[in-house]
Amino acid sequence: MILAQLTDLHIKAGRHLAYGRVDTADFLARAIDHLNALRPAVDAVLLSGDLTDGGTPEDSSALRDLLGALRAPWLAVPGNHDDRASLRATFPEGIDRRAAPGPFLLVVEDRFPLRLIGLDTTVPGQPHGHLCAERLAWLDARLAEAPAKPTLIFQHHPPFETGLCHMDVQNLRTADALFEVLARHPQVRHVACGHVHRAVETTIRGIGVSIAPSPAHAVTLDFHPDAAPSFTMDPPMIRLFRLDPAGLLTSHLSAVGRFDGPHPFFAPDGGLIG
Ligand SMILES: [Fe+2]
Ligand SMILES: [Fe+2]
Repeated sequence: MILAQLTDLHIKAGRHLAYGRVDTADFLARAIDHLNALRPAVDAVLLSGDLTDGGTPEDSSALRDLLGALRAPWLAVPGNHDDRASLRATFPEGIDRRAAPGPFLLVVEDRFPLRLIGLDTTVPGQPHGHLCAERLAWLDARLAEAPAKPTLIFQHHPPFETGLCHMDVQNLRTADALFEVLARHPQVRHVACGHVHRAVETTIRGIGVSIAPSPAHAVTLDFHPDAAPSFTMDPPMIRLFRLDPAGLLTSHLSAVGRFDGPHPFFAPDGGLIG
């Protein structure tokens, strides 16, 4: 099974440029072309928030138009730039609200060998993430339903500090409470996040946790405590997850674009090309 994670798309209506500079619609279109060309085809795509830049219904509509080109099924959770109501109105089929409490956009997908659970970590009007007791109880109940099935959690806000200080102040502020729940369910294999626009990995209480890069702009890699919030146009990348038949979950980064190659290592006679 192969999953792709697309995060932090920051789509704006009318093809307006994000921050006056970034053609996020074009970056998403290229990322979708890249995903559609992968072989074997990806089984599903996780959209982990900041799908729109301004959260307006028009932004969501522009996102819907672009996602129409994506061949794989997708699941979405919101980020701090999104608006729950406009996402819910635009994508009524993309959100599984089964047993989901309150206004939250929570997702469960059972049809793959890897069970997928999407968490809504947003706080309306705030950049940081939070999981209240209601959402954590929902997660605990969903995990209790399938204790033997490998499970991947996806959400927008990372539950750890990256060293990028202006981002760390707006990460998930209830990380300890989240991992109190996850630690009770050893089938949880990974927590896949967005928000930081960079590829970052760590381990918390034995569970792999990662942040996926954006297919558009990257947050500047600057560990100085006083670094000003800024972005750089790093090569766009997508995170992939592969669950092999033995149950091993691995993660890859795939650069979006056309690159020289593939070139063979071996000549037709079987010898290594020297
Ligand atoms: Fe973002
Ligand atoms: Fe974000």
